[in-house]
Amino acid sequence: MDIKKDFPILENRNIAYLDSAATTQKPVNVIRAIEEYYKNYNANPHRGAYSLSIKATEKYENAREKISKFINSKHKEEIIFTKNATESLNLIAYSYGMENLKQGDEVVLSIMEHHSNLVPWQKVCKVTESKLTYMYINENFELTDEEIERKITDKAKIVAITHISNVLGTINPIKKIINYAHKKGAIVVVDASQSIPHMKIDVQDLNADFLVFSGHKMLAPLGIGVLYGKKELLNKMNPFLMGGDMIEYVYEQNTTFAPLPNKFEAGTQNVEGVIGLVSAIDYIENIGYDKIQKIENELLEYAREQLSKLDYIELYLTSNKENHSGVISFNIKGIHPHDVASILDAEDVCIRSGNHCAQPLMRYLGIDSTCRASFYFYNTKEDVDKLVNALNKAYSMFKRYISR
Ligand code: ALA
Repeated sequence: MDIKKDFPILENRNIAYLDSAATTQKPVNVIRAIEEYYKNYNANPHRGAYSLSIKATEKYENAREKISKFINSKHKEEIIFTKNATESLNLIAYSYGMENLKQGDEVVLSIMEHHSNLVPWQKVCKVTESKLTYMYINENFELTDEEIERKITDKAKIVAITHISNVLGTINPIKKIINYAHKKGAIVVVDASQSIPHMKIDVQDLNADFLVFSGHKMLAPLGIGVLYGKKELLNKMNPFLMGGDMIEYVYEQNTTFAPLPNKFEAGTQNVEGVIGLVSAIDYIENIGYDKIQKIENELLEYAREQLSKLDYIELYLTSNKENHSGVISFNIKGIHPHDVASILDAEDVCIRSGNHCAQPLMRYLGIDSTCRASFYFYNTKEDVDKLVNALNKAYSMFKRYISR
């Protein structure tokens, strides 16, 4: 099965694309679905009484149902479309956090959070005079049970945690965290941006209060995100963005708001993105998460093995293979990651370099930045070989500067 054939960019360019944690490439069915939409039924949903707009509305609302089934939410109104995980997290921080936190309460994050699940909570904690606390990782880049139980105290009201670290690839014990936080009376926000591309998410089984992800990291276009929230919580929250389509009645001085989900979807929505997301889910379901995981586990195992042989690199990853997904971060000792990434680019290997929007984690690890290779099921062992060859080349170019 040649998966790369389904991805035009991987067919058209001779690259080892190892930056899927930043954004994935798009399969041809997603590209076609978007083209079909513009060719055949583009109109503004929820606004027109004419059949074209009704068709666009149908497509948009059917997508909500599809996504609800995909993550097994109890009600389809629990699915809110946003522009990305960042917007979803801001929505929760402002509409839930700002209204429910008070002086002395605690918001608990992990040190591996992406800035999108950290900066909004800093703001909310400052305004509400709540305390922001962190669960730290051990020397194996994991959160321990002891740390979880030490940091989620009786004062914790919100625990906001990434399911998988975008830097370390560590899979966090999300069920354990959710159960423990609930015991302590806190609600849990799960950032599933790095997990849903790779594994089945069932929000009822997890018992997550909120869960967010971005479409573009799972084969869909950029600019479409999802917020899942339990209905009873979403119903009590105020809207985040105000404008058209989220209202019931508007008077000169006051407004009443529409019920879920419209209350949280102000303005013309990204129908193209929603349609692309449905096709992306079709593609993932067609291959199946079991197959995806099988391919990725083999690939990661191979990559871990090959990279471990390079004695000039430092790896930042857990030794527990069961607990690792998607990404491998590393440094060539003494060489800036941007320099490494530039050499790799000349060899047609695409990796990300920098702090990966996780500066507190970098500081905690005592480094400024890393190189990061991130994998998806369309990658192959040849891509890993290309990465290793390019790294050897980079090292041989730079080593005389390192020894000085
Ligand atoms: N959050 C994306 C990443 O980790 C952009 O690369």
